Amino acid sequence: MRECVFIDGVRTPNGRAHREKGWFRNLRPDELLTEVLSGLLKRNPKIKPEDVDALFCGTANPSGMQADIGRLGWLASGLPDCVPTNTLTNQCPSGMSCTMHGARAIMTGEADIIIACGVEDMEKVPMGANYNFPPRLLKFYNGADLLMGATAEKVAEQWKIARVDMDNMAAWSNKKAAAARDAGKFKNEIIPVKGLDDDGKEKLIEHDQWIRDKIDMAKMATMQSTFKPGGNVTAANSSPLTQGAAALLLMSREKADQLGLSYTYKYGFGVLAGCDPTVMGIGPIPAMKKLFQKTGLSPKDIGPIELNEAFASQSLACIRDLKLDNENAPFNRVNVWGGALALGHPLGQSGARIIVTLLNVLKTDFPEAKYGVASLCGAFGNAGALLVEKVS
Ligand SMILES: CC(C)(COP(=O)(O)OP(=O)(O)OC[C@H]1O[C@@H](n2cnc3c(N)ncnc32)[C@H](O)[C@@H]1OP(=O)(O)O)[C@@H](O)C(=O)NCCC(=O)NCCS
Repeated sequence: MRECVFIDGVRTPNGRAHREKGWFRNLRPDELLTEVLSGLLKRNPKIKPEDVDALFCGTANPSGMQADIGRLGWLASGLPDCVPTNTLTNQCPSGMSCTMHGARAIMTGEADIIIACGVEDMEKVPMGANYNFPPRLLKFYNGADLLMGATAEKVAEQWKIARVDMDNMAAWSNKKAAAARDAGKFKNEIIPVKGLDDDGKEKLIEHDQWIRDKIDMAKMATMQSTFKPGGNVTAANSSPLTQGAAALLLMSREKADQLGLSYTYKYGFGVLAGCDPTVMGIGPIPAMKKLFQKTGLSPKDIGPIELNEAFASQSLACIRDLKLDNENAPFNRVNVWGGALALGHPLGQSGARIIVTLLNVLKTDFPEAKYGVASLCGAFGNAGALLVEKVS
């Protein structure tokens, strides 16, 4: 097997998916995709777009403006039609699956240069829009139990995650994200994008919109569950509805050497796992267990971990079950620059975004670490875990 190295990775800031307040309310998802594709190619002038072997693009809802967004977004970006594209979905892990497919094509020798990306605009293409659920599914599941918020409430109950712990985690995530933003830690991964300010004036957006600088814990504790009467999953301890894109440049080590490109990390291993869709948030548990079992590694071999924070309840269940870190925030190696509770979670983008962030966290904050892991859950019980390894 050949080695697949990570040459670069970028993302847009995440904007709120809000018709009046969203900083990217003027943009379509294909335009967000163009921003990361052109940003990536501009930063890597040795790569001619026509030399890219394929683009793999993830999105959770490939309908409407996101129908075959990989192909249509690539062509709409004015990029060469000789490059094949593949739009993929397995819900939130979509951008991660694209990275796995791209890396494997490189490792088997089928490709030398791949762009793996993910994009989602939860305002223009709302979660679940245009779905036509198989009625037979209801023989096996109660439809209401499959809704994301309901699954987060069920995880909180079954894994006994207290409301105060969820709120504390959300506050910590925002604090870490604000600190990372202020220290300029996202500068290497964020491509500034022209959007709109609250008054509708054009503004260069350079950071994520949702990050809350001031958290009022007392107010947070009084917020009502959006999903269940008397429940505990609120707008504050859920990832917000957002829009954004992320892209990674993957290459065979031989090609990178030929082009004189530098790299520090390579694709180590990747697995998908399935779980009960009514507690879909615990997906990283079987995914990471599978990853550790197949690689012979254990959590103690890993440096930083990017665990997508779809909801605080499911993140805490995964952290505790796998003993990834402390029982409660503050954490030492999980999401050290904050997670989706603060940064946002544009579904099909997040699998690619957490790998981009992991590469930057490794380089900046964990330079001695040999391994880092990114993992996330997804709707209907899809999950993924991906190992990044330092090249030797
Ligand atoms: C929870 C959810 C329904 C809330 O959506 P919403 O009702 O549209 O709420 P918003 O995100 O606009 O936030 C509601 C309000 O709560 C406020 N709020 C959020 N966190 C807060 C906090 N810590 N303290 C005080 N107020 C807070 C917001 O500021 C907002 O008010 P504003 O519009 O005046 O700013 C939505 O974010 C959601 O569905 N999240 C989960 C997404 C999901 O399922 N993803 C897939 C996972 S697999």
